This record gives sequence, C-alpha cells and structure tokens, in this order.
Amino acid sequence: MATPLHHAPCRDDDGVLPLLPHDPWPSSARPQPDGDLLVGGVSLAGIARRFGTPAYVLDEDDVRRRCRAFTAALPGGRVAYAGKAFLCRAMADWVRTEGLDLDVCSGGELAIARSVGFPGERIVFHGNAKTPQELREAVEYGVGRIVIDNLAEIARLAMLTPPGRRQGVLLRVVPDVDAGAHPAVRTGGEDQKFGLSLASGDAAMAVARILGQPELRLLGLHCHIGSQITEVEPYERAARVMVTQLARIRDTHGVVLPELDLGGGFGIAYLEGDAALDPRRLGPALRRTVEERCAGLGLPVPRPAIEPGRAIAGPAGVTVYRVIAVKRTLTRTFVSVDGGMSDNPRPSLYQAAYTIRAVGRRHAPATRRVTLAGHHC
Ligand SMILES: Cc1ncc(COP(=O)(O)O)c(C=O)c1O
Repeated sequence: MATPLHHAPCRDDDGVLPLLPHDPWPSSARPQPDGDLLVGGVSLAGIARRFGTPAYVLDEDDVRRRCRAFTAALPGGRVAYAGKAFLCRAMADWVRTEGLDLDVCSGGELAIARSVGFPGERIVFHGNAKTPQELREAVEYGVGRIVIDNLAEIARLAMLTPPGRRQGVLLRVVPDVDAGAHPAVRTGGEDQKFGLSLASGDAAMAVARILGQPELRLLGLHCHIGSQITEVEPYERAARVMVTQLARIRDTHGVVLPELDLGGGFGIAYLEGDAALDPRRLGPALRRTVEERCAGLGLPVPRPAIEPGRAIAGPAGVTVYRVIAVKRTLTRTFVSVDGGMSDNPRPSLYQAAYTIRAVGRRHAPATRRVTLAGHHC
C-alpha cells in the first residue's frame, strides 16, 4: 500500500531543521516516477540491490539538522544523543561533530564510541544493572558521567576508580511522573526497574553514600520519565520535582549540584499526522520551569541536559525490506518481508505502528488492506 509523502517543497537552509513534526519520512525523501524513492539523493531500490535487505538507511543531513534543532533549543545546556535509538560508528561521529554528547547503555555501545575516538568526558553511561566489566571499561575510558542506578553500584564504582581520580556520576531518581505511549516505556513511576525511589528513601540514601565516597563526584540528578511523550507538561512536572530534590540535597548536605539531566523520550511521528514533540517548544519550557523553581527555592540554576534518541534517529531513517511472499488467507492478505522482530522488535514488544511504502515499482492505487508480516517464527 503506497502511503503519500507530504513534503514541504522547499526548506530553508540555515542549518536548523525546519521541523515538520508530523512527517515520519526523512526530509530528503523524494518519490520517483518509476516508483523508486530517493533518500539523500540515493535510490532505495539501488541500496537494496547493492547491500541486500533488511537495510537501515539514514540521511546524514537530516540527522545533523535534528542534532542542531536540539542544541539550538537548549543553549548552554548539554544534549546527549541516546545511542540506544540507533548507533553505528558513522552515527557516533555525526553526533560528535555536531557537538552532542553520547549516552550509551552497554559495553557494546561504549565500544562503538571508543572505536571512533568519541571523547570519554562527553559520554554518559546508563543502565539499571551495569556489569562490573562495563563499569571498569567506562572508568578506564574516562567516561565523564556514569549514571548510578542502584545502591550496589556506588561502592563498586568507587573501588574501580584509580587513586587520584574522581569519577563523575549522576544519580538516576524516580520522580513519580509517569508518561509515555505504552506501559513498557513508562519509566518515571515506582513500579519499574530504573532509578532510585524518592518515596522509599533509597534516593536520599544513595546521595549520602555517593557524597561519602571521595572517589566519586556527584555532578547532578537524572531522570527519564518515559518514551514517545508528545506534551511538555510531564517534563515540566518532572523538572519541578527534580529541582526540589536538588534543593533538599543542598539543605541536607550543603552541596549544590551543578547539573540536571531530564532524559529523553520526545515523541516523534510514526504515522502521517502523528503528534510529535517539537524541541523548540520543549527547550524553552524546560528552561523556564527549572529557572522558576530554582528562584522559588533560592537555588543556583543547574546546567540542564536532555537525551533525545528516536527524535534524532527515527524520522531521519527508513528500513528497506524485500517482499518475499504474498499469501491470501480466507480472512486477509499477508505480505511477508525478509525482516521483522530481529531488526525491529518494537511492533511485537508494544504494538508500535510504522508508515510503509512500496518502493521499486510503479504504484497502482491501493485497492485492498493487507497485513505486513515479518519472517520469523
Ligand atoms: C535514560 C534514557 N535516556 C534517553 C532515552 C531516549 O529515549 P527516546 O529515544 O525516546 O528519546 C532513553 C530511552 O529509553 C533512556 O532510557
């Protein structure tokens, strides 16, 4: 079934993405009369022939524009690309040269960053259960911020830090602000595995323990409330909770933490017309909320940080599959492609929907509804 492409006929060229938040396609996608689709001027049918399928295709220029849209939205703040959305060596290099930091959440992602010489001090290492090996590698590479996500990690990390060094850490807390498109991606509430609870007192205990470890330097607090969030309001709520906690730490320990990382999760369009969160709305709203709360509590304004993942990689890319079989059952028609859960687990994990388009042959108008299926058992 062909899905129409809606593109602004001309785009300004000031290097900042003229956002089309409701468009799931890369900004350079151009349908051709022969049914092909060009992305970044390159034929998708040609890519399929040359490299095989499934193939992830990313438009570098689009990725870079999206990076710039986020850095422009949060001047003076820190923007870290969340590599879990998509990471390869080129992607790490693109975000590095756009001035973004990199958020990694496994030894594998760290290895990719290392392989392109991504500066360690610009890496944030996440994970609810980082292995001792991952922590060791992060310390050895000089990762600037390791995000403490459980109590055991504190002493473990202090032990791994060489004498004379202080490892920078953030503490991930649970702000009890739950948002996100599906229960599986709501990570700001109590009943999930990430972060340390404010309500139970674990977060306060973690702060005291980190401050008691001379090998560690607590740079700030972190939260990530969920994914595919299309409104700024949950972020504003989380920011208020987080600033309140920074003030509490100041009042209890006499320590003013310089950073506040509010995570990612910014909604993007998967289908034509889906709501998306525009960084130009998000950035100023976050800054205003943090500044107002800080003013109310007499707290210096921390340096804000955000971690967009899908909002940078998602609309900038497509996956190309080959149709392998068409099967008409009594109830529907299955069009099976040569990929599926192995290259994109999202539809099976939480019923994520995508825009599809037949490429490589002339389009006849769609006449029936079909079900696109993967080829896995
Ligand atoms: C800690 C953290 N930061 C950032 C992200 C990026 O989220 P998104 O790709 O939805 O922006 C995630 C996603 O799970 C995350 O867990």
